[in-house]
Amino acid sequence: MNIGSLQVEGRAVLAPLAGYGDAPFRLLCKRYGAALVYSEMVSSLGIKFRNAKTLAMLAIDPDEHPVSFQMFGARPDAMALAAEVLEQAGADAIDINMGCPEPKIVKSGSGSALLRDVPLIDSITTAVVRATKLPVTVKIRKGYVMEDDVTQEILAVCEKNGIAALAIHGSTAVQGRSGAKDWDVIARAKERAHIPIIANGGVKNAEDARHFLAHTGADLVMIGRAALGNPWIFEQVNDVLADRPIRQPDTEERFRIMREHVEREVLLKGPVTGIKEMRKHLAFYFHGLPEATRYRGRVNQIKTFEDLEAMLEDYLAVCRSHEQEADNGTR
Ligand SMILES: Cc1cc2nc3c(=O)[nH]c(=O)nc-3n(C[C@H](O)[C@H](O)[C@H](O)COP(=O)(O)O)c2cc1C
Repeated sequence: MNIGSLQVEGRAVLAPLAGYGDAPFRLLCKRYGAALVYSEMVSSLGIKFRNAKTLAMLAIDPDEHPVSFQMFGARPDAMALAAEVLEQAGADAIDINMGCPEPKIVKSGSGSALLRDVPLIDSITTAVVRATKLPVTVKIRKGYVMEDDVTQEILAVCEKNGIAALAIHGSTAVQGRSGAKDWDVIARAKERAHIPIIANGGVKNAEDARHFLAHTGADLVMIGRAALGNPWIFEQVNDVLADRPIRQPDTEERFRIMREHVEREVLLKGPVTGIKEMRKHLAFYFHGLPEATRYRGRVNQIKTFEDLEAMLEDYLAVCRSHEQEADNGTR
């Protein structure tokens, strides 16, 4: 299917995940079949003022395309300029964050604060679409406070201004990341939409993704938390949708991916930051493995790349021996 001029293969996309969705993680999700990977949100003002940390976030791996860069901000001029920079940096699409509920973001008038200012959404989307040749998409929540449903109104503005797709998270900003997700609001948007609709919120596994797509009729499903430590979920969604049996990676494959993730993170960010970043990721990768709590604790003590590699080697041996015992027990 197409998002504007961008062709994507598959129906499951990686959600923007601040603090996680960098080039190494996006690449792994792409390799396991994500149709499109979103970057973690980047600040349009950070780009405008050439903030070093923000610019470092623009790294793209040649093998992760297509990648959509998500930006946040409330100033149409800065958002337009940021879109130009992101296009030059090699993004395949630009996404505008209109859903983030973090107080710091909302206070600046960005993220989900925009849901309460449709005229500003009009100005921002107009300015960004004009500034770039790339497809521009928008990610919203269904509203700001509980009783809100602003999806139809925002969809109309987006379509008028040439937005190429709309991702909808079926909960409100005040609900934050928990709370019930309203799938019907996404289904109603899809009924009216002339652009692709991307359904987001609450997918825990491949079966959920199938139900979500079937219930809403959405074109794509966006997966966030369930991809953490679990980038193979995209392959599983693709398999479920094609009525193929789901494959669970074995222990060797899990550890191979962890090691590659560590190497790529360290290569991109250097050993200190790279290892710090990996602590968060490994906590998710360890989910469901034996002695996970103990090894999560060990990861937090580790300071060098070599120690981290050695620890993973050690942990792999522990997991293998648990498997061996389980095998013996069933014989
Ligand atoms: C750690 C974390 C970071 C997030 N960062 C962003 C972000 O940068 N931009 C954004 O639009 N949403 C962000 N979100 C929201 C997700 O993109 C997604 O909408 C939400 O997690 C619901 O999807 P899920 O249930 O599949 O996780 C973040 C969520 C989490 C858990």
